[in-house]
Amino acid sequence: MKLVALVGSLRKDSFNLHLVETMEERYKDKFAIEYADIRSLPFYDQDQEDPMPEAAKKLHQQVAAADGVLIVTPEFNWSFSGVLKNALDWLSRGDRPMNNKPTLVAGVSPFMMGTLRAQQHLRDVLVSPGIAARTLPPGGNEILITFANEKFKDGRLVDENTLAFLDSIVDKFVNLVQGK
Ligand SMILES: Cc1cc2nc3c(=O)[nH]c(=O)nc-3n(C[C@H](O)[C@H](O)[C@H](O)COP(=O)(O)O)c2cc1C
Repeated sequence: MKLVALVGSLRKDSFNLHLVETMEERYKDKFAIEYADIRSLPFYDQDQEDPMPEAAKKLHQQVAAADGVLIVTPEFNWSFSGVLKNALDWLSRGDRPMNNKPTLVAGVSPFMMGTLRAQQHLRDVLVSPGIAARTLPPGGNEILITFANEKFKDGRLVDENTLAFLDSIVDKFVNLVQGK
């Protein structure tokens, strides 16, 4: 199984990136993770859609070829990040590769809300017609990682309770991908 990861933070030492790196190692027997290069995308511009810029074309191809998508987002000013919205806007056009694509959402914050507000906004976008991704149902399946400074060590998620919860959601997501 292959997943494409859209990491909504561009910084090198991003907790959200470290979450994906943790998942890459921990679930290597379940799936491989390929990173989408959302940094290289130009700002979405309808005048540039035909032909699509190379970076957008590549993103479309990656998502189309993947069994699922993993979106991890920081919370910026009570929402998900602009670079992530830009990537989703590109993906909502042309062949719309996100349509019905199994998509797992997660987010990490150093604070007590754990990207709750960012993920609420993100969910609204994920059900829009141009995206229409297939996600786990809301109400218990949200991966909201709070107080990241205490739960990550040397660039990896190490908090045992959080990892156990993550295991349970990943199992559900693998079932979703496999149509179980
Ligand atoms: C511009 C900006 C806005 C932020 N707004 C929020 C916010 O609304 N809620 C929150 O929990 N954290 C907020 N933060 C803190 C981020 O959660 C924190 O920087 C986090 O580490 C970013 O994710 P990353 O580690 O993956 O880069 C903000 C940070 C920045 C730089």
